[in-house]
Amino acid sequence: MSEQPLFKLTIDNISIEVPAGTTILNAARKIGGEVAPPAMCYYSKLEGSGGKCRTCLVEVSKGSEKDPRPMPKLVASCRTTVMDGMEVKNITSNKVMDARNGVVEFLLINHPLDCPICDQAGECHLQDLSYEHGKAGTRYEFQRRTFKKHDLGDKIQLHMTRCILCYRCVFTADQLTNKREHGILDRGDHAEIATFIEKNLDNDFIGNVIDVCPVGALTDKTFRFKNRVWFLKPMDAHRDCPTCSGKVTLWNRGDEVFRVTARKDEWGEVEEWICNTCRFDTKKTSDWTIEGPRLIDRHSVISQGHYAGSVGTNKPTETFEAVHGGRKPKLLMDIHTVSDVNRPDITLSMLERPAHTTDFKPNQD
Ligand code: SF4
Ligand code: FES
Repeated sequence: MSEQPLFKLTIDNISIEVPAGTTILNAARKIGGEVAPPAMCYYSKLEGSGGKCRTCLVEVSKGSEKDPRPMPKLVASCRTTVMDGMEVKNITSNKVMDARNGVVEFLLINHPLDCPICDQAGECHLQDLSYEHGKAGTRYEFQRRTFKKHDLGDKIQLHMTRCILCYRCVFTADQLTNKREHGILDRGDHAEIATFIEKNLDNDFIGNVIDVCPVGALTDKTFRFKNRVWFLKPMDAHRDCPTCSGKVTLWNRGDEVFRVTARKDEWGEVEEWICNTCRFDTKKTSDWTIEGPRLIDRHSVISQGHYAGSVGTNKPTETFEAVHGGRKPKLLMDIHTVSDVNRPDITLSMLERPAHTTDFKPNQD
């Protein structure tokens, strides 16, 4: 195969050379950091993905060396390929920031604000986007969409109200499994993810739809409501699996494995697909060979739960008196006697490991 010529372009004034045929989004990912536009529907491992959500819009202020005219409209960077001499603006463009705010407002029109009870909270791309570009209020006066409840088999829960119709799960089912039984039905604001005549999605790799979903529309029923991701410690682990590579991330609290996911790269994309047995049915630490802690972006709320990490987890060394200018406390309360949650015989701050369920009193409800 002949080598692709290299095209030189600038994105947010940073120069980069990439092979012809590369999209602006992938060129920006090579630079990395904030220069890379957010992508809610594009997924590099899924053929045909992209072009649906418009979160990746950028401004092309110079088309190419040969034709320097700017592109008249903002373009979807996941679907637009680079040209030699192109100049692209992402975070340096007010137009792009305005448009992204608008796109986020649209994505949130029908999305419920149920982050406090959503399992995706803490690792939801829409949550991150709305922190950066969202508004505190809504201009939408109509009722949000409601749907009849669908279960996608016994291990996957679909919350259609949270779906942003990015098509990633449909492409995953199409391209990874040999019998797809779900897709998008209807058009416009009636469009919804549905199983074909309510069939179960039972094949070995279908659990991967949970990992590709950028929001909390598809969640793991074996993990639902059991814990918050930022209380868990992600560990890379592997096992000898006859179906997949067996390379996963375990989400532990102490010795308990709360969930198993595929390993994700810095763009939140799955590195290697994993099978349902690894994901749903192999939840004992003894099933796995632990490789070590998974590196998580230090800005992620999940890294707050890293005990070996440096973010917000250093135990304070000062005594109470040192902090209060030599004054002794007037009243000291023992957490064990005032809390309904802690077990009196365990001092959580003295544990040399993360606390887990057995360190707390059993649920009183
Ligand atoms: S369920 Fe999730 S992955 Fe599937 S289309 Fe909706 S948002 Fe995308
Ligand atoms: S990521 Fe480009 S349109 Fe969705």
